[in-house]
Amino acid sequence: MVLEIPPIPFMDDYDLSEKKVLVRVDFNVPIDPKTGVILNDARIKAHARTIKELIDLNAAVVVISHQGRPGGKEFTSLKIHAERLSEILSYNVKFIDDIIGPAARNEIKKLKNAEVLVLENTRLISEEIIEAAPEKQAQTFFVKKLAPLFDAFVLDAFSTAHRSQPSLVGFPMVLPSVAGRVFEAEIKALSKIISREERPKVFVLGGAKVEDSLKVIETLVRNKAADRILTTGLLAEVFLVAKGINIGKENIQFLAEKGLIGLIPRARRLLMMGAPIETPYDVAIEKNGKRVEVPVTKVNGRIMDIGTETIKSYIQLMNDAKIIVLRGPAGVIEKGSFKIGTIKLAEAALRTSAFTIFGGGHFTVVADELDEKLRKKIGHRSLAGGALLLFLAGERLPAIYALAESAKKFIWRR
Ligand code: 3PG
Repeated sequence: MVLEIPPIPFMDDYDLSEKKVLVRVDFNVPIDPKTGVILNDARIKAHARTIKELIDLNAAVVVISHQGRPGGKEFTSLKIHAERLSEILSYNVKFIDDIIGPAARNEIKKLKNAEVLVLENTRLISEEIIEAAPEKQAQTFFVKKLAPLFDAFVLDAFSTAHRSQPSLVGFPMVLPSVAGRVFEAEIKALSKIISREERPKVFVLGGAKVEDSLKVIETLVRNKAADRILTTGLLAEVFLVAKGINIGKENIQFLAEKGLIGLIPRARRLLMMGAPIETPYDVAIEKNGKRVEVPVTKVNGRIMDIGTETIKSYIQLMNDAKIIVLRGPAGVIEKGSFKIGTIKLAEAALRTSAFTIFGGGHFTVVADELDEKLRKKIGHRSLAGGALLLFLAGERLPAIYALAESAKKFIWRR
């Protein structure tokens, strides 16, 4: 599989000094649902570098991002993100709880050079949830209300580049647009990786975004981009049920509550096609507050992690890999003893001689806990999850193509 990436402009390719610039970042971070506190600010820190560079260019900087999904536990205001950005930059960062209304537009008009303003969560706008072609997104209220107030657009949210939403693909259609520093770093690092044809390529997939992971697996299988796919977490549960294994009524009920039962036929289809998908042999459940391990055929409680036998077998399956990609925790990592599976798989991947990629906002929490020597062996630590995997699977990411089209129109036109 050879993926052609179209040329896109970076911040060095267009003069942004003294301009009014709209910056789309990905401030979507893990948030403690009980306290509302940001649990890991790696993404905010990374985008802060792009924002600092724009301040130094004396640009007036307006920042937009999503956080969580409507209805989800992590769907919150961006006020706390603006405060954290202010701390990281040691700089006054303004915030307004509006996006396209008169209040936000007035603040944007008033914004002076070298000032930074963060707008409210983009997913409060219903148009932002709908995916459509860039030309169509350029016609949304979102883009039409804001674009005339800006001279240029900086797209820094590589981790959301797989979504064809107005804030990502609409603005490039109407404004001179470049990729920000985070986007640039990811594209450059990942382009090197996809040009390496070494096999086996092993993907270790877990986390909460099961439907996205299934789409990624379908793409990996279609493009023959993976030699082994080791599943964990809820994703593994869907595949276990698809194999006809009885994982117990609590877990089936949980899958139903999360709306995941409908994915089982898709998982079954992949298994019937002979996709190289591995599922756990044993799992960990909680009994009287303790970790107890049981075979997958004898589960009598909510699955919280993969078990020791699974860890051992997955480690063996990683041993001869040349490239290993890990995305999403294998269990409920917020609870100490159920972090074991995720940590052991991450450590084992780093002990192999494979080039190892850690992906996803939530996985960075795990990387931070590893021994420093091992941490240094991480080949690429991507802030992206779904976007990273789809990119590695050979999928066209809409935001990359929107930037390329925009450049032809506004930056590289003759
Ligand atoms: C991510 O964390 O993968 C990105 O922020 C995209 O989030 P989404 O899957 O809710 O679109």
